[in-house]
Amino acid sequence: MNNTQIPLVDLVAGYKPVEEQIRLAWDEALSGMRLFLGPNVQAFEREFAEYCGVQHAIGISDGTNALHLALRACGICPGDEVITVGFTFIATTEAILLSGAKPVFIDIDPKTYTMDPSLIENQITPKTRVILPVHLYGQCADMDPIMEIAKKHNLFVIEDACQAHGAEYKGRKAGSIGHAAAFSFYFTKNLGAYGEGGMVTTQDDEIAKRIKMLRDHGSEKRYYHDLVGWNARLDELQAAALRIKLNYLDQWNQERRKNASYYSQHLESTGLVLPWEAPYNQHVYHLYVIRTPYREELRQSLAEQGIGTGIHYPIPTHRQKAILDRGIITNSLPHTESLSDQILSLPMYPQLTQQQIERVCEEVQRFTTEYISR
Ligand SMILES: Cc1ncc(COP(=O)(O)O)c(C=O)c1O
Repeated sequence: MNNTQIPLVDLVAGYKPVEEQIRLAWDEALSGMRLFLGPNVQAFEREFAEYCGVQHAIGISDGTNALHLALRACGICPGDEVITVGFTFIATTEAILLSGAKPVFIDIDPKTYTMDPSLIENQITPKTRVILPVHLYGQCADMDPIMEIAKKHNLFVIEDACQAHGAEYKGRKAGSIGHAAAFSFYFTKNLGAYGEGGMVTTQDDEIAKRIKMLRDHGSEKRYYHDLVGWNARLDELQAAALRIKLNYLDQWNQERRKNASYYSQHLESTGLVLPWEAPYNQHVYHLYVIRTPYREELRQSLAEQGIGTGIHYPIPTHRQKAILDRGIITNSLPHTESLSDQILSLPMYPQLTQQQIERVCEEVQRFTTEYISR
């Protein structure tokens, strides 16, 4: 038995290539002490907007607040409804609830695991204001039909791009398609800070202006408050690190794609359901998620070999206690629910070595031969 640890994500390996540059950038930022929406925040906003191909990028404290403020900037009020998915991290729904609106959950496409656009129109009521798809695991939702439906019914579309930095849909970057989009720079993300961070991107001048105010207590001019806002500004030190890491994002996403391709080739014969990349998408594999009814057994077997795995996420949002306690009752979402019982995330990060990925594949193959086919 080889028990060398292979973690689900290796943050230390991810830090090494940028360590020196980040130490220098932090030294410089701390010498200048311009920590309130300082030069690094401003530069990173410009650079990230350019990267995504949008007019505006507004640095926010984290992804949850980026979603929340995007909803608020679109004028969402208590009583409004937002159509979204339950197959995501709970933050998507928390942001909707923070804005006072009610989440209306629909099922996902069982191949891409993202919002099934054919189910949207059935849920539209006079109270519906927003459609909020999630680009899950690094793959964009099918945005064209979503945008078409939104246009027909005069709705906003807010992309949850928190897991999809650099992903593309029909050649367009995640975060450049809807009326606004939210990104998270939580430290395990494809573009991760060393603390918390987030961003809203938009092409709309008015939404951008409102987000800028909302993240800073509703003010445009210091101590003059035209809106009731929030404190949700991106931190200067995080922005300094993120600027450096943005230069590596495409290269790291390519490494993730290469790793995903290796997994998919070598696990094809195992009978596990592997990730499916829609032909119109450029998936950036924030997570590499397989499906098996023997999830717990496989997870245990890999853990015994020192291989880390994750479950993203074990309980869909519409079945979480916090949501049920709010009296939000949703009919069964069959794909969402059956997937939640079967998904397993395998180690995935750009610095995963050939040796490590081979060993993960061997252990998964061994399990499927010995356990499933027995
Ligand atoms: C899909 C999704 N939405 C929203 C969030 C919230 O981002 P944050 O943790 O930065 O608040 C996350 C990340 O954790 C996420 O994965």
